[in-house]
Amino acid sequence: MPLRRSAAAVVRRLTGRSQPDPAPAPVDPSTDPSADPKAERRRRLMSLDLTELAVEFGTDKWGVHRYTPHYQRHLEHLRGKKFVLLEIGIGGYSRKRRSGASLKMWRWFFPKARIVGLDIEDKSFLDGGHIATYLGDQTDPVILKRIIAEEGAPLVVIDDGSHIPSHVRTTFATLFPLLPDGAIYCIEDIQTSYWPAWGGALDPRAPGTSMDLVKDLIDGLNHEEFLVEGYEPTFTDTHVRAVHCYHNLVVIEKGDNVEGSNRDTAAHSFHGSNDDPSADT
Ligand SMILES: C[S@@+](CC[C@H](N)C(=O)[O-])C[C@H]1O[C@@H](n2cnc3c(N)ncnc32)[C@H](O)[C@@H]1O
Repeated sequence: MPLRRSAAAVVRRLTGRSQPDPAPAPVDPSTDPSADPKAERRRRLMSLDLTELAVEFGTDKWGVHRYTPHYQRHLEHLRGKKFVLLEIGIGGYSRKRRSGASLKMWRWFFPKARIVGLDIEDKSFLDGGHIATYLGDQTDPVILKRIIAEEGAPLVVIDDGSHIPSHVRTTFATLFPLLPDGAIYCIEDIQTSYWPAWGGALDPRAPGTSMDLVKDLIDGLNHEEFLVEGYEPTFTDTHVRAVHCYHNLVVIEKGDNVEGSNRDTAAHSFHGSNDDPSADT
């Protein structure tokens, strides 16, 4: 009678082991980085903070400037949110490969956001996925309103365009009233306020600069305390909730700024009259 060996017995005789080697487990691309380099890159970028992303994509928001830690602090709460971010000034100038560094940085910091860029040069080669670009001048209300009509009102605006104070002011005047409550409006490189070659002024307190606008906004935070007879609050008086100033960067928060004043109950007599002293002569 032929001797019939079981498969297990054959394996035992040939290898000295009682079981055949198990077949290699199928590779799960979601857990094995080498299986899907794209997924691995995605995971790596999603784990970076904003400064690391700035370095990764080569925007000067970190390095030449020190903006990213400030942005991280003010914008981190939006990381997982769906919203529109508009950056004015896409950058790169004639170097196509360097274009859109900050748009790419934002795209990875805000994976669910729509990242929109506006530039006076055509950057449409960056369009796709989460990123959309528009060609136009930041002082042109038509293009700014078109962006809002097509993309929705941005919750975050970054003005990193011409940096010319009159442009910065015009853009702010057009966009700010159109933003939703809770919006964050950032102005970069505001030091041009002090540089005549950029349309600024030597006198740090000169009117008409970007910083002059910011100082008005700061006064406006306390507009309810003004004792100026017949003072009419401006739109920004009642809709700017906070102004954060850093070296060359300003972050403005939009929100209700009508809290009421204690000026009628405070004991003015303690410090004397609030009447204008020049009126006594
Ligand atoms: C400093 S770069 C932007 C850099 C980019 N945001 C980054 O962080 O990598 C300034 C950009 O603003 C654009 N720009 C200049 N004047 C403009 C204007 N009036 N309207 C819109 N964009 C303008 C320039 O073409 C340039 O691409």
